[in-house]
Amino acid sequence: MNTNFDEVVDRLHTNSAKWDGIPDEYGKNVIALSVADMDLRAPQVLVDKMTEVAQHGIYGYTELFPPYYAAVQSWFQRMYDWKIDREWIVFCPRIVQAVSLIIQHFIDEGDKVLVHTPSYMPITNAIKVNRRKLVESPLLLKNGRYEIDFEDTEAKMRTGVKILLLCSPHNPTGRVWTKEELWHIGELCLKYNVLLISDDIHADFIHGKHRHTFVGSLSEQLAQQSIICTSPGKTFNLASLEIANIIIPNEKYRSKFKESMIQAGIHNPTFFAVPALETAYTSCDDWLIGVKDYISDNVSFTKEFCREHLPKIKLIDPEGTYLIWMDCRDWSMNEADLKQWILEEAKVNVSFGSSFGKKYEGFIRLNLGTPRALLHEGLRRIAQVYRSTKTIKI
Ligand SMILES: Cc1ncc(COP(=O)(O)O)c(C=O)c1O
Repeated sequence: MNTNFDEVVDRLHTNSAKWDGIPDEYGKNVIALSVADMDLRAPQVLVDKMTEVAQHGIYGYTELFPPYYAAVQSWFQRMYDWKIDREWIVFCPRIVQAVSLIIQHFIDEGDKVLVHTPSYMPITNAIKVNRRKLVESPLLLKNGRYEIDFEDTEAKMRTGVKILLLCSPHNPTGRVWTKEELWHIGELCLKYNVLLISDDIHADFIHGKHRHTFVGSLSEQLAQQSIICTSPGKTFNLASLEIANIIIPNEKYRSKFKESMIQAGIHNPTFFAVPALETAYTSCDDWLIGVKDYISDNVSFTKEFCREHLPKIKLIDPEGTYLIWMDCRDWSMNEADLKQWILEEAKVNVSFGSSFGKKYEGFIRLNLGTPRALLHEGLRRIAQVYRSTKTIKI
């Protein structure tokens, strides 16, 4: 099992969205701490499996056979003590696809979908491009920690929301919702007959004492009201292999979702997808423990570095995910300033706040799923520019 997470792998010229996607005008020397995939190699057993599969040489059509379902079931049982029926599991290549299909087929144009903001853009976009109405309930930042504003959420649900799209754990704030919070959300969904879609793609990265709970495991009633989107894509860094497991305990919802996939012409996973999932879910537990420790150390490193060198930037301590949300408003409220300093001058690409909602200028999100040396160099460059802006401005 490879555990050399310090290894820096050059991702340029691999069609990487994160690295090759940086516009040429910023030069080739930019460090990317943006798009949420990791710069850490997948487990060696997984690489070996993909190599073996590639060597077969016939990449014909595939189907889903029982070992796939057993691998998914055993993963949730082993990791989360959540027993799911085989029938509940529906393969869909990507979570954003699944959410889009649900929006298209479960509700009508103009219907309301509630999202807590700041929020991961492709999901909010899926609501808008499908001409449904995005209803935002901003999270409250209290003593450096984000919380759901339940009064606001309920007030908005009262106006006829059809779907609540929960991100659990939450990207970008890193909140791991407690059981109590999830109960509260669940009760509101039951009270107002709102379909609860929970995007749990970051569930396998939980720090310290925090624990992840799947809404579908809370009660039978809530399971029947929810669709839970899960995937090994983030966990084992295999996003482009395209395999997500959509857990749908409610039979009516399940057949509707399956029908929507057929209508969209989505079937058969790629040749690599199922072997990747089976290997990841059955043979990579040690690797996952290692990578989680590495990310936790990256979080501590970032906190320490910022305390010393970037004192005006307030970090939101992530309880989960490999992302960190930073409040830079005391440095500048203006995103154009931050873009100039961080991207153009420091040559570090991060995810800038406005892509998570209009109100989030002055925030940035960093991806900590990267070797420490790259993270350190990225932070060092930002700190250098930070010092020079302070000398000019103050
Ligand atoms: C919260 C969240 N949901 C979904 C996705 C994307 O999932 P997929 O690639 O399966 O569509 C991401 C990727 O960054 C994400 O952060």
